[in-house]
Amino acid sequence: MREHNIAILAGDGIGPEVMAEAEKVLAAAGQQFGFSFRAEHQLVGGAAIDAHGTPLPAQTLASCEAADAILFGSVGGPKWEHLPPNEQPERGSLLPLRKHFNLFCNLRPAKIHPGLEPLSYLRADIAAKGMDVLVVRELTGDIYFGQPRGREGEGEQEYGYDTMRYSRFEIRRIARMAFDAARQRRGRVLSVDKANVLTTSMLWREEVIAIAADYPDVTLEHIYIDNATMQLLRRASEFDVILCGNLFGDIISDEAAMITGSMGLLPSASLNESGFGMYEPAGGSAPDIAGQGIANPVAQILSASLMLRHSLGEGAAADAIDSAVSAALADGCLTGELLAPGSQQRPLSTREMGDAIVQRIKEAR
Ligand code: NAD
Ligand code: IPM
Ligand code: MN
Repeated sequence: MREHNIAILAGDGIGPEVMAEAEKVLAAAGQQFGFSFRAEHQLVGGAAIDAHGTPLPAQTLASCEAADAILFGSVGGPKWEHLPPNEQPERGSLLPLRKHFNLFCNLRPAKIHPGLEPLSYLRADIAAKGMDVLVVRELTGDIYFGQPRGREGEGEQEYGYDTMRYSRFEIRRIARMAFDAARQRRGRVLSVDKANVLTTSMLWREEVIAIAADYPDVTLEHIYIDNATMQLLRRASEFDVILCGNLFGDIISDEAAMITGSMGLLPSASLNESGFGMYEPAGGSAPDIAGQGIANPVAQILSASLMLRHSLGEGAAADAIDSAVSAALADGCLTGELLAPGSQQRPLSTREMGDAIVQRIKEAR
């Protein structure tokens, strides 16, 4: 039997709750498709701060290094917001992990499934046309990592600053990922920037155009970020691959999630050049609902599916998970945040949603 070696970092807030469901789903898929896991569970983020005084303990990093892939939950929460910036869960574990493994390519697929238009926050006639986008977000550069950054001065004159920065190399390698992805999809790349203002964006646009020359079969368009957030609402169905830098991709992917119905539906894959990846929901630790057993586990489960597909060579199992998720949603299995206000339907708990998906994986054969 094939065995995959994975590091599981559930993290904080709803992380452990939704991770438990993803693990159930992985086990069920393994049983159906003839593989198993050797999983190392490690602390990360606030949970690691509480236990070891640091958000990314050496042991956690070592586990990730030894693994074939990392399945990540989410980190952060009000409990750790008072800490110095670099000791906080996000800046002290998530961003360093992305940088350490050179996970420059973040894929965030967002889709309105046929039949699930009512879940969308779009106006009904627009949702009826559907949406199937892939946000390709650069993940290790931009204003997230650019130097210098800091705070200087005193009193009213104190200021904070960050550096938005991209090299030609960084732009080219993420652009290639977007064009390659478009070839497997509907052949369109929409590159998002702010080239009417930002120097970084001017270089971005130049380089994306240069790469496009290698892909005559792919249509390239450019759009400013402000207009992009608006057009995505107005004509979501026309978008295919959305290519973005780190900051704009962060913003537009949350919007794409809500067009499908919930933050709890959007998975992501963060990949490096050799195909190693970390897989995590696009949403966060959701402190407002953590501990109640009501979070939607679908984003975590679909992230596990992306892991099977991109890092573990288990595409058939990934397909089965994706189908089981779609079927469960189509059958009306919905966690609370997906229900319309005033709905009389009883929402499923996190665990019930996981069970519904597991059941459909088992039935599929
Ligand atoms: P969030 O994504 O945690 O929550 C935003 C909203 O979406 C909340 O109303 C939340 O309840 C809802 N939501 C998110 N995931 C859900 C799910 N699976 N099911 C149902 N509802 C869901 O964003 P935030 O509130 O801005 O951030 C909370 C904390 O999470 C912060 O510390 C932030 O830095 C962190 N964060 C971490 C990650 C990560 O670890 N990858 C990603 C985003 C935010
Ligand atoms: C995401 C998150 C992170 C980001 C935060 C928690 C650092 O919002 O993965 O989208 O901004 O990349
Ligand atoms: Mn985000």
